[in-house]
Amino acid sequence: LVLSLAWLGLALGGEEGEDGEAVVEEEEKEEGAEVLSDELREEDGVLVLHEHNFARALSEHRLLLVEFCKCPRCGQGRGQGGCGIVRWMRRRAGPSATLLQDAAAAAAFVSSQDLVVVGFFKVGWGGQGPHQPPPWQFDEGRTDFPVDPARGLDAAELTRLLRVHSLALVMEFTNETSDQIFSAKIPHHMLLFLNKSSPAQLALRDGFRAAAGTFRGEVLFVVVDVTGYGADVLPFFGMTPADAPTLRLVKMENNRKYRMAQDAFSDAAIRTFVQAVLDGKVKPHLMSAEPPEDWDTRPVKVLVGKTFEQVAFDETKNVFVKFYAPWCSHCQAMAAAWEELGERYKDHEDIVIAELDATANELENITISGFPTLHYFPAGPGRKMVEYKSARDVETFSKFLENGGTLPEEPPVVPKTPENSTGREEPSPLGTAESRDEL
Ligand SMILES: *[C@@H]1O[C@H](CO)[C@@H](O)[C@H](O)[C@H]1NC(C)=O
Ligand SMILES: *[C@@H]1O[C@H](CO)[C@@H](O)[C@H](O)[C@H]1NC(C)=O
Ligand SMILES: *[C@@H]1O[C@H](CO)[C@@H](O)[C@H](O)[C@H]1NC(C)=O
Ligand SMILES: *[C@@H]1O[C@H](CO)[C@@H](O)[C@H](O)[C@H]1NC(C)=O
Repeated sequence: LVLSLAWLGLALGGEEGEDGEAVVEEEEKEEGAEVLSDELREEDGVLVLHEHNFARALSEHRLLLVEFCKCPRCGQGRGQGGCGIVRWMRRRAGPSATLLQDAAAAAAFVSSQDLVVVGFFKVGWGGQGPHQPPPWQFDEGRTDFPVDPARGLDAAELTRLLRVHSLALVMEFTNETSDQIFSAKIPHHMLLFLNKSSPAQLALRDGFRAAAGTFRGEVLFVVVDVTGYGADVLPFFGMTPADAPTLRLVKMENNRKYRMAQDAFSDAAIRTFVQAVLDGKVKPHLMSAEPPEDWDTRPVKVLVGKTFEQVAFDETKNVFVKFYAPWCSHCQAMAAAWEELGERYKDHEDIVIAELDATANELENITISGFPTLHYFPAGPGRKMVEYKSARDVETFSKFLENGGTLPEEPPVVPKTPENSTGREEPSPLGTAESRDEL
């Protein structure tokens, strides 16, 4: 499921401030004597190599697949994922291209794999220049990739084409396809959420499939069963199974989600909608929870998507917001400090301590890419925002607030910088003036 969270950006496991842990293992000294010889020793059918026998192993074997490791026990996971690695080795061991001598060899090759690439070359005419395919019968599922002899083969373009064609036109989201879906690097995903036990909903796949071809390579069409494997991703769209059938388009680059004003499942309606999103004519759909009734009477104000703008950008208030995920352990670790901060400033007219569950609320111009993220919105005009990246304790928070949104000196702990988010420059580690973004 980790990868499926790519639709969900936030949830992508980006907990911030993870302390890097370095484990240094001492080499086992008692092996010293034995290690000096160039003898090749096997353990469980695997050669154990070291600096003294490496050259010998290279000279005795045409191909070696070597796992480099630091500790003596790292071979223990061996054998896991064995099939993939064997296939990979076989490919390396064989020629990277095969010359097909005749139509029969070509036909056999074409049917040997789901996806094959055949290059056609003129021979005996200087050898250069790709050639029109001869009239062999494999039009079924064939895509031509013409090559301009003057410019040569564009390997990157061909790779892209292969990636696109290695996917079905419409994918179903399952445990078996999710890796493929997210590694395909198709910039948009169009999702049809449906209840597969309902024949009426299943029938909606026809229009969906009919629209898919138009956008191949640009938009990947995916069917998500809300009663099956897809159920787990619904919260990230703010949905429940009862919302099916429905459509969402996700822009992978920034995880923005788009929906039709009124779902319509015809081929034409889907095409029109997708084209409008691609043309930048549709505003993203932002999730928002409902504000709890007591949201502004607690020491820590509870913000949601709908109320964020009016509170954070209130020009008379300095607003300090914690963007969190309910499941994030670093957020839980700082929860008490944040409550205490709220208590401390609850009677200050111009200071607001607030929090927002960023897994249930999306904001138009602020993308949260790690948890927790703390932003300070100073009073005054100009829609300023300062990211707080220092120690997460009450005293340091207070110092930051009292000092008008900066810290007077180098703080003791500077947490890891989160990944860049769309449309924003990377703030400086201390959240000083340079990191003030105009929103
Ligand atoms: C997917 O789930 C099915 C049923 O739960 C299971 O049999 C199969 O091994 C899983 N496949 C992968 C790649 O996890
Ligand atoms: C899915 O459809 C079936 C058949 O119509 C129905 O019995 C079931 O309650 C539906 N499930 C949900 C979660 O709507
Ligand atoms: C978001 O940014 C756009 C473009 O700069 C701007 O037009 C829009 O008003 C902003 N919206 C909010 C809610 O800040
Ligand atoms: C952040 O964005 C800037 C400007 O777009 C870019 O130069 C920089 O390499 C990015 N940093 C990371 C960590 O992605």
